[in-house]
Amino acid sequence: MGAFTHHIFVCCNRREPGNCRGCCDPDGGEALRAAFKAEVKKRNLGPLVRANKAGCLDQCELGPTVVIYPQGIWYGGVRLEDVSRIIEETVIGGRVIDELVIPPEKLNCPPASRKGE
Ligand code: FES
Repeated sequence: MGAFTHHIFVCCNRREPGNCRGCCDPDGGEALRAAFKAEVKKRNLGPLVRANKAGCLDQCELGPTVVIYPQGIWYGGVRLEDVSRIIEETVIGGRVIDELVIPPEKLNCPPASRKGE
């Protein structure tokens, strides 16, 4: 694999309605991944920036979830309208968007402890 400056993984996992953990892509349309991909292309950031579809990143209750490597920046509750800003501020500008960050203390916690947050 090439050395990407930013490798953006977008959770596109879908679960059946009513699943207790919910999911990041309830309609299965992968719209968030498509938006990242389009924004990367629009700004001519390839091939050093890449947006890929990911399966469940195990932060379901905090999703839709996106993680950017190698920086290890975890964003939760990501909406389509956040995509341009993430590319502009984080990928190009190198700034973390605080209000989208999943706090480290909530990562990799038992799912039940994240409920309702
Ligand atoms: S379904 Fe997206 S993190 Fe689990």
